[in-house]
Amino acid sequence: MKNDIFLRALKRQPVPYTPVWLMRQAGRYLPEYKATRARAGSFMALAQSPEMATEVTLQPLERFDFDAAILFSDILTIPDAMGLGLSFVQGEGPKFEKSLRHEDDVKALTVPDMHRLQYVFDAVAMIRKTLDGRVPLIGFAGSPFTVACYMIEGQSTREYRYIKTMMYARPDLLHHILEVNTQTTIVYLKEQIRAGAQAVMVFDSWGGMLADHHYQTFSLAYMQKIVDALRADPECKETPIILFTKGGGLWIDELAQTGCDALGVDWTVNLSKARARVQDRVTLQGNLDPMALFADEEAVRKEVRRIIDDFGTVGAGGHIFNLGHGISQFTNPEIVTALVDEVHRYSAQYHQAGN
Ligand code: CP3
Repeated sequence: MKNDIFLRALKRQPVPYTPVWLMRQAGRYLPEYKATRARAGSFMALAQSPEMATEVTLQPLERFDFDAAILFSDILTIPDAMGLGLSFVQGEGPKFEKSLRHEDDVKALTVPDMHRLQYVFDAVAMIRKTLDGRVPLIGFAGSPFTVACYMIEGQSTREYRYIKTMMYARPDLLHHILEVNTQTTIVYLKEQIRAGAQAVMVFDSWGGMLADHHYQTFSLAYMQKIVDALRADPECKETPIILFTKGGGLWIDELAQTGCDALGVDWTVNLSKARARVQDRVTLQGNLDPMALFADEEAVRKEVRRIIDDFGTVGAGGHIFNLGHGISQFTNPEIVTALVDEVHRYSAQYHQAGN
């Protein structure tokens, strides 16, 4: 491994500077991504070709000095493998041919044959080989709850009307979907690790819209099962796990107790206060507002410094710099160069122990 700073920060070991990568770092803000995407014809064709998935995973690393690569894929590959028929309509986001609203459809849902997701594991293996130890590779999945949102709504939503209706009216049906998603995600992440993923991240993008007791019941409990299952597998137990509930600042303590290695936090969280709450038991990953990248370079550098100052002397803790959510497609790539430079340069003073 030429650069293992990201993995060391996940284990809260000394490092010379704060590592950085960005959620959605391979994506539409990069003209080279758009070119490959056009060549592929559709998002799914791109994701299903290990060669093209490798190409776009490495694109941001050619431009920026990132400390990690993330598998190019999507959290919705799982429901697609379950037969719900995923497509991405340009400008409209994901769409499923079938959405899960009726009891018979819900009860018929089962863990899909992993062969249907072989393209993901092939992409992991090819990316890992192509990276040749440059930086570590992150595998990922959606949280069972977030994936269920798309399966039940059939697309992105502002109201969560159908999933919340099911939650209140037929919680048994929702629990069935969540259980199938969880069992699928466990096998899916294990296979990614076997194929070469060196850390895994669970994206709970929509858990933050749940009521306090519902979050624990419908999202956290299922992420806990994933952590427990990976920890119980001799081949996976050493692989660091990052949990990220967007809007999950209220539940940081509970998330830290799952046994994960790191927590993604969005920009509503103050890193100094979050750190005091988790007592350095987990690494914190975040948390710049992606919209900050629309300001000029000096303003971006200042925000980066503020976040690094908030975390403070790293000591026994761990910090991985990231955004609080995915980078916007309207971001000017040049500003990302300044962000990475500022993180690496300014953070060094807080890492004396790592020199
Ligand atoms: O670079 C990376 O971060 C790796 C690839 C990655 C993608 N999606 C590629 C993608 C990752 C980690 C994801 C996760 C994902 N997908 C999440 C969780 C993270 C988050 O943002 O909350 C969610 C909710 C999805 C579902 C999804 N996929 C939506 C809602 C959309 C459309 C809207 C959008 O933001 O673009 C996608 C499509 C998608 N997934 C794109 C990319 C690069 C853009 C689509 C395109 O190229 O047409």
